[in-house]
Amino acid sequence: MNSDWKIRIATENDLDCILSHRRGMFQEMGFTDASVLDQVVAASRGFIEKGLSDGSYRGFLAVTENNEVVAGAGLAITDWLAHPAAPKQSRRAYILNVYTAPDYRRKGIARVLMQAVLDHCKQEGFISVWLHASEYGRPLYESMGFEAANEMKIMLKPNGLVRNE
Ligand SMILES: CC(C)(COP(=O)(O)OP(=O)(O)OC[C@H]1O[C@@H](n2cnc3c(N)ncnc32)[C@H](O)[C@@H]1OP(=O)(O)O)[C@@H](O)C(=O)NCCC(=O)NCCS
Repeated sequence: MNSDWKIRIATENDLDCILSHRRGMFQEMGFTDASVLDQVVAASRGFIEKGLSDGSYRGFLAVTENNEVVAGAGLAITDWLAHPAAPKQSRRAYILNVYTAPDYRRKGIARVLMQAVLDHCKQEGFISVWLHASEYGRPLYESMGFEAANEMKIMLKPNGLVRNE
């Protein structure tokens, strides 16, 4: 590991830091409307706060020698239905909030954080881990072995009709 930073597990005191990573991540993905990002942060707070407390959200943070957090990755462990590929598994592991501060990019920090999350998932007995890749994250994830899955989505109009454009 790089001598300038190390990984530590997030505590409940890191809630605002994790929320700032979530905001920064979406901002860089092109969601630039500040009021929308404010809403995302406000609506995410309870989920992460509860998760840090009960273990359903686990944060992995990269910190400098001065205890400055420069990157993070989160893991949500949620109840989920079993699947023939893992018939005894009733939970799902989902990685989110992957973010490295601009000055610290391309130093391998996100890769080490992601490996720590995957190692943790293995220890927890998961045989698969899910995430949604941004344009920036995709090369990292692919280089680590992630591959596109067959999930699909549909965007619904507010009145419930399927969007047809
Ligand atoms: C994506 C992100 C987390 C990568 O963080 P990082 O600490 O710079 O990543 P690393 O240094 O560990 O890079 C690991 C590998 O990812 C790939 N990679 C990282 N950034 C890349 C970029 N801008 N373009 C192409 N490949 C990139 C490379 O393969 C890189 O390995 P290399 O430097 O040896 O070529 C960071 O760019 C970021 O925070 N982006 C904005 C938020 C975001 O999109 N997060 C992902 C959400 S899914």
